[in-house]
Amino acid sequence: MPDPATNSGIERAYRERTPGSAALADKARHVLPSGVVHDSRHIRPYGLYAARAQGPHKWDVDGNRYIDYFGGHGALLLGHNHPEVMQAVTEQLQRGTHFAAGSEAEVRWAEKICELLPSAERVRFHSSGTEATQMALRLSRAFTGRNKLLRFQAHYHGWQDDMTTGYASHYDGTPVIGVPREVAAQTLAVDPYDEAEVERLLTTDTDIAAIIFEPLGAATGKVPLTRAFLEKLRQWTTENGVVLIFDEVVTGFRVDPGGAQAAFGITPDLTTLAKIVAGGLPGGAVAGKAEILEGLDFEASARAKREKINHPGTFNACPVSAVAGRTALDIIVRDEACGRANQLAEELRARLTAVLEELNVPWLIYGEASVFHIFMGDMPAGRAGFAPQTLGREGLHKQPADAARRLRLAMNVNGVDLAGWPGGLLSAAHTEADLEETAEAFRESLGMLRREGMV
Ligand SMILES: Cc1ncc(COP(=O)(O)O)c(C=O)c1O
Repeated sequence: MPDPATNSGIERAYRERTPGSAALADKARHVLPSGVVHDSRHIRPYGLYAARAQGPHKWDVDGNRYIDYFGGHGALLLGHNHPEVMQAVTEQLQRGTHFAAGSEAEVRWAEKICELLPSAERVRFHSSGTEATQMALRLSRAFTGRNKLLRFQAHYHGWQDDMTTGYASHYDGTPVIGVPREVAAQTLAVDPYDEAEVERLLTTDTDIAAIIFEPLGAATGKVPLTRAFLEKLRQWTTENGVVLIFDEVVTGFRVDPGGAQAAFGITPDLTTLAKIVAGGLPGGAVAGKAEILEGLDFEASARAKREKINHPGTFNACPVSAVAGRTALDIIVRDEACGRANQLAEELRARLTAVLEELNVPWLIYGEASVFHIFMGDMPAGRAGFAPQTLGREGLHKQPADAARRLRLAMNVNGVDLAGWPGGLLSAAHTEADLEETAEAFRESLGMLRREGMV
């Protein structure tokens, strides 16, 4: 069957605008699987190659400017290259990048996290969110002496073996390729809207060590969770000795300086962090109750006559990430960056909704805090009757074939870079002018999609 995309005016316009990216993508295919380094950057015909960025904008290798809603996969609440973060990083680079010794920077970084995050009594640093969630799960198993893990379908917690089943596939508990069956069998992937099943498992299965989830819901709220449900989870886990883990890799220091846990007023036992915590550089952390983090503590483990959890890691709390993180966290508090980004997102959601209404497109814009989701799926009750719980995970994830891809390409052609779900993340560096330009780009892009019969 001929590929309908080859006749796509959107794709032609994208190719015409981005020959430099096309040339790099051609080279990349010879040395990188599919030419990419992160699955979510894979798009037909090829993704953008960026040359530089500043504030809320980035430029590709052909010199085109984009309003950036990919936001460093969520790491850039302050936008690109905040001058104070850059200064702290530059000064640290002059002093050294790796001391193989403790640094004042790591202590100051940990102190700030403990000050801001309600659940944080102790912190352990890592190089990524994947490592942080892996450690949170191991700490939970060590603390409880139990084996199983409860997770919600489609919530993302990194790509380590334990959290692969039930993320993008294998909701039936079978292993994804490359993961042993025995490992997959220890992870129970439950539909978060099946409250009765979640309660049954938490209250009857005495081998569950931990439950982990994104507190706003899968893909930062695309499949939203309610505060009332989170309160029940807190209660069921407390009553049954299960460790409650909030994966705040995206929401931490974004929804509120104290994370989603401060916004909801619910304190988990452990919190996993990455992205914003390291100020735009690589880094991650697990934070939480001292008695659980003591699994990593030499003296506490010896006192308890218990085996200590082994945890080296060459770049744990790399001093450059540590100063970037501490500086960014200070600025976030001082400049009320979360509040500003949240307010900008609310405005953007309203502006994009107005465009949908004006053009009579039956899609929906939604989201919490500084996040927006573009829902293109079936909405039996219309925009006004949109009810996530009724649509369920499958309904919320289902997009008309190829529409999301063409929308992203069309938005690129019109100077906006969306994240792939599709949607995006606001920073405190975006401006009113960016929002206006984005709404205009959305209007243009919808026109292009309409000409291709996609809306
Ligand atoms: C909620 C969540 N947890 C964990 C991770 C994994 O973090 P990293 O990509 O730093 O390994 C991500 C990454 O997007 C995430 O969104």
